[in-house]
Amino acid sequence: MTQATAAKFDQYSQLNDDDCDERIYAAKQALKGRAIILGHHYQRADVYKHADLTGDSFKLSKLAGQADARYIVFCGVHFMAEVADILSQPEQVAILPDMAAGCSMADMANLAKVERAWSELSQVLDPDQHVTPVTYVNSAADLKAFCGEHGGIVCTSSNANKILDWSFAQRSKVLFFPDQHLGRWSGHSMGIAPDEMQVWDPDEWLGGLTPEQIDAARILLWKGHCSVHQMFQPQHVLKFRNQHPEGLVISHPECRFEVCKLSDHVGSTEYIIETIREAPPNTRWLVGTELNLVNRIAEELRPQGKIVQFMSPLICMCSTMNRIDPQHLAWCLENLVEDNVVNAIQVPDRDKQLARQALQRMLDVS
Ligand code: 13P
Ligand code: SF4
Repeated sequence: MTQATAAKFDQYSQLNDDDCDERIYAAKQALKGRAIILGHHYQRADVYKHADLTGDSFKLSKLAGQADARYIVFCGVHFMAEVADILSQPEQVAILPDMAAGCSMADMANLAKVERAWSELSQVLDPDQHVTPVTYVNSAADLKAFCGEHGGIVCTSSNANKILDWSFAQRSKVLFFPDQHLGRWSGHSMGIAPDEMQVWDPDEWLGGLTPEQIDAARILLWKGHCSVHQMFQPQHVLKFRNQHPEGLVISHPECRFEVCKLSDHVGSTEYIIETIREAPPNTRWLVGTELNLVNRIAEELRPQGKIVQFMSPLICMCSTMNRIDPQHLAWCLENLVEDNVVNAIQVPDRDKQLARQALQRMLDVS
């Protein structure tokens, strides 16, 4: 097949959403089984509705590995499309409709800093003997490769406890990056005491810890966080409890510890949706996660008399997830109709192999 020259995004940026909608539907028809669209639960409504399959990061990782379409169009953020590239077959292509859709938490750790932490740790103990590196899936592929190389593993918000169990069966300590909150909450749920979890500040020598603190720690928590989930505060939960004593609170484990502690349920985006869906009619919920998800579930469940409220009085959306808009999706799909690939995500081969090991360990353990 001869390839037409790829259409430039400029031609799409001025399209209105209705025109994009029509063009997306038509492109999907034309592509038939050649492309699959995966959509994370945080995607905006006008993109989410075009997804063939939706899920949390874990479910989407598995779906990407099982997909048989040539093109995997990932409506999510960069690390998710990287995972799709790592777990898919060599002839498949993972595509991120807007390359600016990153994750600010993932950017809080990088290979240079993690390698430095590893080498600083070796001043106190042999990390390859005593420390399992665990990276949250919200991280760049080279960090997953680091974990693959050093006997470590990847986790998501839906399997962190199982992954920590596995990690402690390998070595006595865990270096958990980049989200301190998921690490702390998971450690707490497994019964690990607060003083056995120390925050590792990558900008300080030895993470800002003493050798004694490192020795006593079971989990070293990388000093990273999600700026969206950081917005939810204990006082939001307390106010809700006061106004609606019968109400239920559900949070994502990226929320700070105090918020998780005050919640009735804590879990991944898929878990949050399923828990509220399965709840009895006429229940009221306060939800600590991204606004697109909360709005969607509130609308879906209103007919059952369920009231679903967003936890923060401020509007806080994941601005990078929101980068994927109908214009970018229409642009990618129409190019694919002509077999022009735009915005392919290609993890370098060495990283891919090692990162796949760490991801495969996760899939096996889960
Ligand atoms: P989930 O794995 O729960 O979908 O979360 C991904 C994420 O980025 C939450 O901020
Ligand atoms: Fe990253 Fe937070 Fe956005 Fe999730 S909500 S993708 S952790 S910035």
